[in-house]
Amino acid sequence: MSESNTGECERCGGTGFLILEAAGASRARPCACRALSRGRPAGIEDFLQAARIPRRYHDCDFENFDAIPPHQLALQGARTWALRYAEEYPLSDRGLLFMGPPGVGKTHLAVSTLRRLALLKGVPGLFCDVQDLLRRLQATFDRQSGMSELDLLQPVLQTEAVLLDDLGGRQFSPWLEETLSHIVTTRYNDKRATLVTTNYTDESAGGRGPTLKDRIGPRVHSRLQEMCHVVKIEAQDFRQLIKRADHHRLADRIERPKESA
Ligand SMILES: Nc1ncnc2c1ncn2[C@@H]1O[C@H](COP(=O)(O)OP(=O)(O)OP(=O)(O)O)[C@@H](O)[C@H]1O
Ligand SMILES: [Mg+2]
Repeated sequence: MSESNTGECERCGGTGFLILEAAGASRARPCACRALSRGRPAGIEDFLQAARIPRRYHDCDFENFDAIPPHQLALQGARTWALRYAEEYPLSDRGLLFMGPPGVGKTHLAVSTLRRLALLKGVPGLFCDVQDLLRRLQATFDRQSGMSELDLLQPVLQTEAVLLDDLGGRQFSPWLEETLSHIVTTRYNDKRATLVTTNYTDESAGGRGPTLKDRIGPRVHSRLQEMCHVVKIEAQDFRQLIKRADHHRLADRIERPKESA
């Protein structure tokens, strides 16, 4: 491995990536030094565990994200943005902010992106449920937890790619704005990749109800606009579709014995 006298790899200058130009397009490939020094995940199990992906999302990948009518184009568009982001990483210094109603696949796509980054490029990732993190941080302030604020925050601040899942789920307060602002600003200043999902958008539904800015405060909102590309997903609630499909399958099973009788 070629190292300069500052200890940085001479091939990639310490960035961990080699930028390749081919057929007029740029592609980033992980440098050999990266796999050695950062412990590239050997496989999917390692990734799921290291990134603390909840079991429900263990199988999420771009391949099993369906673009189904009537919102085929919106779903295809969102998938393309996420896939391109992972393939081109780290060419863009902006992350992705998935916005949309419940069940449209925001977390599915964000987890697929973390997965692709880890398996394709050896990028360490972390799934962070924002509500859970805030609850745990609050417990450290109330001294109801053995963990320190630093123990909780360090992985969220320092992991190369972090998914902040379900941003805005908690009512806005100055403490919340301060905490989120610290996380988002630190990651932005350190140029780390941030993926975000939220149910709130910039326009309130039907002119009523809170916007994302109302939920997270103007400072965090403004910083996120700068550091993330917004991917809006307008589609049906997939959970309802699955429920309906299950219901039909069940009805089929109940009816079939009658048919064969
Ligand atoms: N287009 C899709 N193709 C296949 N599975 C999907 C798709 N969209 C969602 N799902 C599945 O539906 C379930 C709900 O999706 P997901 O949790 O990603 O929704 P969400 O937009 O994050 O919802 P919420 O806002 O409630 O967090 C998951 O099991 C996910 O894998
Ligand atoms: Mg979600």
